[in-house]
Amino acid sequence: MKTYVLASKNAHKAQEIKAILGDGFQILTQVDAGVGDVDVIEDGSTFEENAAKKAETIMKLTGKPTIADDSGLCVDYLDGAPGVYTARYAGENAADEENIQKLLTALSGVPCHKRTAQFVCVIALAVPGEPTRLFRGECPGRITEAPKGEDGFGYDPVFYYEKYAMTLAEMEPHIKNAISHRSAALRKMATGLGE
Ligand code: IMP
Repeated sequence: MKTYVLASKNAHKAQEIKAILGDGFQILTQVDAGVGDVDVIEDGSTFEENAAKKAETIMKLTGKPTIADDSGLCVDYLDGAPGVYTARYAGENAADEENIQKLLTALSGVPCHKRTAQFVCVIALAVPGEPTRLFRGECPGRITEAPKGEDGFGYDPVFYYEKYAMTLAEMEPHIKNAISHRSAALRKMATGLGE
């Protein structure tokens, strides 16, 4: 059994990661690891920088192998925006609906074939005494003209997954887990494929 601290306080994220990695892994949240009061500022210009900073900060505090993820949405027509600003696209503490509205406004009038996008997730694995390793997963799709579906979170209702002809918010959670950027990055980590 491999035990990792997850550089996050989000127990739901820890559950999701555990579900993807399977039985050979135990995932402790920051709270479980006794560093629940630490907030790492995500001020990097890439997903890689942010994920590495989070993992290394928590690893140094706990002395334990730590994983951290950073993820976001990159829209081709917007030159990769909102990218590392995905969570706060419409402002600090913006609600999902506000972020979605800003995105739809930015893409107003843009034809379907130019609305391509990728969800990106970078996982950093920081182990004491070893160089930090990075694993990148992507999920390709396109931004719809209006939200559709009730499941998921964030930008799921406007992210259309061509192969299944539905948005991520219309998918059963286990289907989304199988094709998501997060699961692609985690699977790379689980099989030891680094970059
Ligand atoms: P973070 O990795 O928690 O910083 O996530 C950044 C932001 O990207 C989140 O607040 C969401 O808005 C968005 N995001 C990341 N992954 C997903 C996803 O799977 N579906 C929808 N939105 C996502």
